[in-house]
Amino acid sequence: MLDDELQAALDRRAAKGTLRQLTVYPTASTSVSSSSSSEQPLVDFSSNDYLSLATSSRVRADFAAIIASDSPLSAQLGSAGSRLLDGNSSVHEAVENDLTRHFASSTAGLLFNSGYEANVSLLSTLPQPKDVVIYDELVHASVHDGLRRSRVPAHLRIPFRHNSVDHLREILTRLVQDGTLTAGTSAAPGEQRNVWLAVESIYSMDGDACPLRALLDTLSQHVPQHRICAVVDEAHSTAVYGSRGRGLVNALGLQDDPRITARLMTFGKAWGASGAIVLCSKIARHYLINYARPLIFSTALGYPQLASILAAFRSVQDGSAEKRARATFGNARRLVDGLEGVIRSQSPAAKRTIALPPHLKPKQQAQLAVEADDDFVRWSMQQPSPIVPVLTSRARELAAYLRANGLLARPICYPTVPKGEDRVRICVHADNTKSDIDRLIDSVRSWVHADPSHVSTRTEVGRHTPPSPAHALAAKL
Ligand SMILES: Cc1ncc(COP(=O)(O)O)c(C=O)c1O
Repeated sequence: MLDDELQAALDRRAAKGTLRQLTVYPTASTSVSSSSSSEQPLVDFSSNDYLSLATSSRVRADFAAIIASDSPLSAQLGSAGSRLLDGNSSVHEAVENDLTRHFASSTAGLLFNSGYEANVSLLSTLPQPKDVVIYDELVHASVHDGLRRSRVPAHLRIPFRHNSVDHLREILTRLVQDGTLTAGTSAAPGEQRNVWLAVESIYSMDGDACPLRALLDTLSQHVPQHRICAVVDEAHSTAVYGSRGRGLVNALGLQDDPRITARLMTFGKAWGASGAIVLCSKIARHYLINYARPLIFSTALGYPQLASILAAFRSVQDGSAEKRARATFGNARRLVDGLEGVIRSQSPAAKRTIALPPHLKPKQQAQLAVEADDDFVRWSMQQPSPIVPVLTSRARELAAYLRANGLLARPICYPTVPKGEDRVRICVHADNTKSDIDRLIDSVRSWVHADPSHVSTRTEVGRHTPPSPAHALAAKL
C-alpha cells in the first residue's frame, strides 16, 4: 500500500533524526487566546518578522483602514485569476509601480506570490541554454529548484564556496583556461555566454552579508561587463538594510550597477506580510511574464495581501520601520556581546559549548563598513544582522532548554545546514525587550554550565512543551 511505503520513508527519516514536523508554539502573537491555556507565551526569537511589523498595532490599524476605505482594494477578496487572465487589475499595477519606484526608480518590477516562486521563475527562465550560472553554495532552496528547471546544463551550474571571492576567481580562471569562457571578444556575439551570479544579500541560516562588490569586481576581471548577470536575493535584507528599507544593494550604492540583472525583495519576512517583487529591466519583466510558469499558472496575489503589503509600506516610507530596525540592530548587538561573554566563560573541554560564526568577530564586522551619506545605513552595516546563529553540536537540546525557559528559537540541523554546523538560529526583533535579550543570554549561560542530568529533566518536562495539535487551535477560533 502507498501509505506503508510513505510511512517507511518517514520512519527512515525519523531514525536518522531528520524528520520534519509542523509545530505550534504559543508566542505572544500566535496564541489566539492564552486565557484558556495554562501555557505562557514564548518570547519570539525565531520568526523572520525582524521589525515586528507583522504584529505592529500601527500596521494592523493601517491594514484595517485600507480595507475599510472606499478603495478598489476593499471591493474584492481573491484576485480570481492569474495575472495573465482575470487576476490583473489597476490595483495590482499601481501597487507594483509604487513599490518599484520606491526600491529602484530606473527599473521595472514584477509582483510574485512568494519569494520562492520569484526565485524559481528567475533562475528557471532568464539564464539561456549556453550560459554559465555560478552560485553561492548556501543559496536558498528556491534558487536550487529554479536552477534544476533551467535550460543551463548541469555542468555549467557551478557552486562556489560560501562568500569566497577567491573560489569564485579560481572557477572563472578555470572556465577561461578550458575555453568555456572566451577571454576578450574573440567569440562571435551570439556565442558569448552570459555569466550569472546567484547570491543572497544576507544569508538566512548564517546571517552574514554577501561581499557583493568584491564578487562583482572579480567577475569583471574575467567577463565583459555586459555579460555579467547577478541575481541578488534580498529576502532577509528587505526593509531592514538600506535607506528606507531598500536593501543591501542600495546600502552598498550598487542599485544602478548594470551588472545586477535582478533583485528580489520579499514581503514575508521583515515586511510582515507575504509576496515578493522582482526588480529588473523592462525586457526581463516582459520575458518573465511570458515564460515564468509560477507566475503564468497561479492565481495572482489577493486584495487583502496587497492591502497588508501596502499597510507595512506606509511604515517603511515614513521612516517608522527604520526606527524599528535601529531597535532590532541594537538587540542584535546586545545579544552578540552577551554571548561572547558566555563563550569566554566556558571551558573548551566542557560537554556543552557554544560558538559564534567567524563573521561575528568584531574585526570581520568592520569589513562591512560602507561609505554612505545616511547615518542609519552606515551604522547598521557595522552591527550584527538580526540572524545570530549559536553553533553547538547539541542544537536540539539547547533549543528545548530555551523553550523550557520561555524562549522560542529553532534548532537547525543537518541536512538543512552542512554536517557539523548544527546551530540554534536566533532571530532578534524590534519588539524584543532588553530584558528578553538578557534572559536569553542568561539561559544560554546556564545551559552551558548546567549539570547534564538537570538539563535533560528540564527539557523533558518543560513548562513550554508544544501545545496539542490543530484541533486545540480550531476550538479557540
Ligand atoms: C533567502 C531566501 N530566499 C527566498 C525565500 C522564499 O521567500 P518566501 O518565503 O517569500 O517564499 C526565503 C524564505 O525562507 C529565503 O530565506
